[in-house]
Amino acid sequence: MPNVKYRLANIVLKMDSEKKILILGVNGFIGSSLAWKILKRTNWKVLGMDLGDSKILHCLQEKNFTFHRGNALEETGWIESAIKECDVVLPLIAIATPSLYVKDPLRVYRLDFESNVEVVKMCVKHSKRIVFPSTSEVYGLCPDAEFDEFESNLTLGPVAKERWIYSCIKQMLDRLIWAYGKHENLKFTLFRPFNFIGPKLDDINNPKEGSSRVLTQFAHNIINGKPVKLVDGGKQKRSFTFIDDGIECLLKIIENKNGCADGEIFNIGNPGMEFSIRELAEMLVELIGTYPKYAEAAKNAKIEVVSGDDYYGKGYQDVPRRVPSVKRAEKILGWKPTTDLRTALKLTLDYHLLGKDYELSQ
Ligand code: UGA
Repeated sequence: MPNVKYRLANIVLKMDSEKKILILGVNGFIGSSLAWKILKRTNWKVLGMDLGDSKILHCLQEKNFTFHRGNALEETGWIESAIKECDVVLPLIAIATPSLYVKDPLRVYRLDFESNVEVVKMCVKHSKRIVFPSTSEVYGLCPDAEFDEFESNLTLGPVAKERWIYSCIKQMLDRLIWAYGKHENLKFTLFRPFNFIGPKLDDINNPKEGSSRVLTQFAHNIINGKPVKLVDGGKQKRSFTFIDDGIECLLKIIENKNGCADGEIFNIGNPGMEFSIRELAEMLVELIGTYPKYAEAAKNAKIEVVSGDDYYGKGYQDVPRRVPSVKRAEKILGWKPTTDLRTALKLTLDYHLLGKDYELSQ
């Protein structure tokens, strides 16, 4: 009964202090889920900007939500006045799919780096608190068993391996924000999501090969009778984190009780959810087989091994494993992840295969 267990673990208290939160990229995976939880659990106001509204249709009905449709690369004037109006700024606009780091690194650079540097500077200028999404990718090839926010080395591969451009951009932004915090009193928190998964990650219906994150790609291939491709055999591991666990942590960061999150860096991940990519593929085949409409497709599912170079191109280099230490979030924020992988996958599959959106029933 994954849903019952999940709901019991997911109760949080209403937050009372009033805030206005700016979410740039509110229609993204994290942005849409965060906006909804804020609107349902708090009395905070949310001002959101994005190119589209497909994932936030339910938010649009809420009185505390205002939406602006726009392109962040073109509407810096709007962004600056929105920053002036709000208390906390979450710049969530970024390209975060590895195939694009390799195929279009300059687009990643312009959007992820250049436009976010401007946002950081505006937060400095208007003395606004920034809650910035760093990434698990900043740890790169760090050999530590668990990555620690203040101790682990951030270790990247060669320049010709363009996969690292995203990691390098995020690391530079982390360092810039840190420096503004230390030398110009910018109030900030950096958070590092570790392979967040959940219903609205990527569109399961039409991902082009390599264009979405692994869970969406695998589910798409299985239900459409295409072979699941295990890059380099699927021995590499990830620590998957269910979106709602991540959002619970983010709510605590935004709440910032007694300033506890100021000047902090938090890994947001689930060290207990480390699985190899092959294990993920096998679990997905098994679970999809429990949906009558897709049982046949799951029974016939084929798993193929491909090389990273063939799948992504020459500039790809993989991370063999990455496990977060979440001791800091536990100690300072009193947060711990609670959702296991089967539950996370089941809720995600229910959304895509049965059209059930658990979020709306909360
Ligand atoms: C991701 C992305 O960089 C970001 O979304 C994010 O910052 C970060 O990690 C995170 O979520 O923490 P990665 O974990 O490599 O990077 O993302 P996926 O595309 O989901 O790939 C996971 C693994 O599955 C990789 O080893 C990849 O080679 C493998 N994979 C992917 C396959 O074996 N087959 C596929 O069809 C797709």
